[in-house]
Amino acid sequence: MTRPQDAIWQSATVPCRVNLIGEWIDFNGGTVLPMALTPSVRVDIQSNQSQSDQVSSEQFDGPRAFGIDAPATDHWSDYIRGALQYARKQEWISAGQDVHVKSAIPVGAGLSSSAAIIVAALKAARPSFATVTDANLALAAKEIENRFIGVPCGIMDQMAVALGKPGTALALDTRDCSYELLDIPDSWSIVVAHSGLHRALTDGRYRARRDECLEAARQIGAAYLCDASMDFLDALDPILAKRARHVISEGKRSKEAVAALRSDDRARFGQLMIESHNSLRDDMDVSVPGIDQLVAHAIDLGAEGARITGAGFGGCVAALIDPSILANWWTGLTALHPTIKRIS
Ligand code: GLA
Repeated sequence: MTRPQDAIWQSATVPCRVNLIGEWIDFNGGTVLPMALTPSVRVDIQSNQSQSDQVSSEQFDGPRAFGIDAPATDHWSDYIRGALQYARKQEWISAGQDVHVKSAIPVGAGLSSSAAIIVAALKAARPSFATVTDANLALAAKEIENRFIGVPCGIMDQMAVALGKPGTALALDTRDCSYELLDIPDSWSIVVAHSGLHRALTDGRYRARRDECLEAARQIGAAYLCDASMDFLDALDPILAKRARHVISEGKRSKEAVAALRSDDRARFGQLMIESHNSLRDDMDVSVPGIDQLVAHAIDLGAEGARITGAGFGGCVAALIDPSILANWWTGLTALHPTIKRIS
């Protein structure tokens, strides 16, 4: 789509995120610790006075036109169109929009490209008179992802990309969405490496794991699975017991990790990342052999911690390293895994 010379475009740019710790607990009452990363998505919108939204992108396909009330079609533009339909209900915009998307966020890498695109579209559509906060936009983005797209995700990703700043971790209590931005000390290097193994959350595995967690909580009688006691695990069937063990232990680990970050205890934080990975691999069953190998090599080469990040099933590894060994560490890791890419 070429932009008319005299067009008044509204635009917003939103970063992606990596989750440092606190995985699969954002719908189980846990505290999570995502950090915004530099790659971002920019969304430009402008009213076209018609009854259709025309969506184009440099990374994906387009332009394509959709009726303003058309349902999701399993196309990347669903994220945009869900946001536009929400914005029209709020009377932030009227009629159809021309939309242009420019994204540097890898898709299927566990970096919240979908949350970023929805939040960017909402921010672009939000008029200057609207008093809605970024945190409330994040809640709206979650509803769009749950109801329009059909992925029953928690609130972590939307909050992380709506509020996050690269280099700063967001300690987020997912029960009430209270949060604090915490600086990463200069003596911590966090490297995000994309394995190249892609995955999608729309394939049903996210919903299946989530349902197992909610069923475990129901059988135990806990409002939030993070609050449950390990003493109840024996009463659950083996799969539900594994999911519950991950969630209960990860809830404790992430709180301890926030304390370790506050007190600049890099070694303890790294240890908790390793325990988190092992739990995601063995109890949550969301890792894959290629990622397990990458994590193991990252640690063998001197990282203090490394783990799969996001929902899993592929995507990225986050590692914590002493900055003084970073260059050699990366050289060693890329010698073993020549196709990995550093995201920063
Ligand atoms: C995806 C979801 C999040 C969260 C993570 C796992 O990124 O969108 O809500 O559940 O998986 O921690």
